[in-house]
Amino acid sequence: MDLGLAGKRAIITGASKGIGLAVARTLAAEGVYVIGGSRDTSDELKELVAAGQAVEVLVDLSSETGPGQLVAGALNEGPVEVLINNAGAVTPRTNGFVSVADEQWSYTLNLTLMAAVRTARAVLPHMLEGRRGVIINTASVNASLPDPLVVDYSAAKAALVNFSKALSKEVGPHGVRVNTVSPGPVATDLWLGHDGVASTLASTLGGDPGKYEETAVQDTATHRFTTPQEVADLIAFLASDRAANITGADYVIDGGLIQTL
Ligand SMILES: NC(=O)c1ccc[n+]([C@@H]2O[C@H](COP(=O)([O-])OP(=O)(O)OC[C@H]3O[C@@H](n4cnc5c(N)ncnc54)[C@H](OP(=O)(O)O)[C@@H]3O)[C@@H](O)[C@H]2O)c1
Repeated sequence: MDLGLAGKRAIITGASKGIGLAVARTLAAEGVYVIGGSRDTSDELKELVAAGQAVEVLVDLSSETGPGQLVAGALNEGPVEVLINNAGAVTPRTNGFVSVADEQWSYTLNLTLMAAVRTARAVLPHMLEGRRGVIINTASVNASLPDPLVVDYSAAKAALVNFSKALSKEVGPHGVRVNTVSPGPVATDLWLGHDGVASTLASTLGGDPGKYEETAVQDTATHRFTTPQEVADLIAFLASDRAANITGADYVIDGGLIQTL
C-alpha cells in the first residue's frame, strides 16, 4: 500500500531506539525525512543520518525548553507535516505510592505529558497556517489500565490521551489530525533492556527477569510482546492520508491484553 508520505518531514521524539527507531526507519523507507530527537544518539539512527534520510537532535525533552528547541530547529530547515511524540520512560515504583516523591512525579509528567504539550504548541501555528498536519502521541495501555507499580506513568499517559482528544477537537476543523497509539508490552529496552522493567522488578522483588516478562503477557490473547515494527506500522498508517478521517482516536495495540470492549 502506497502511504503517499514521500517528501514529507516528520519530527519523531525518542527516535534513537525502540519504537521511535522503528517508526523512523519505517517512515524513512516511505520517503519521509526524519528529525529525530533524543538525549543520546545510536548507531542505528546514525545509519539513517548517513543515508541522508534523517537528522538527529540531541535534546532533553523533559526540560521546559527542549521540546520547543527541537521543533524550532526543524521548522528552520523546512515544513513539518508530522509530529510523533514517542519519547518516554518508566520506573517501576516497587516501594509503593508513598515513596514516589514530587521530583519523580514532575519528571514523569514532564516527559510523558508536557513534552507532547510543548512540541504540539510549538508546531501547531505552522500546521494550522498550512491547514495540514498530523500529530500522533504514543500513550500506553496503562492510560486505561492504571497500575500502582507505575502509578505516575499511568496517570501521565491517561492525561496524554485526554489531552490528545481535546486537542483533536480544536484543530480538526483546521486540517490537523491528532491521535494516540496505546501499546501493551513491546519488545524494547524499556521492558527488556539492562535497566528495563523486567530487570528492575527482578532485582528489587526477586526472581529472574524472564518470570516478569512472562507475567507481562500472560493475560494477552497472543501470549507475546508486540514488536516495535508492529507499532511503527500502525503509526505510519495513522500518519498517512489513508487515515485522513481518523482523528481523536486511541488505537490499542496490545495482543488483546485489555479484556473489555
Ligand atoms: N515498550 C513498551 O512496553 C511500551 C508500552 C507502552 C507504551 N510505550 C511507550 O512507547 C514510547 C517508546 O518507548 P520504547 O519502548 O521504545 O522505549 P525505549 O526503547 O527505552 O526508547 C525510549 C526513547 O525515548 C528517548 N528518551 C527517553 N527519555 C528522554 C528524554 N528525557 N529526552 C529525550 N528523549 C528521551 C530515548 O532516548 P535517550 O535515552 O537517548 O534520551 C529513546 O529514544 C514511550 O513513550 C513509552 O512510554 C512503551
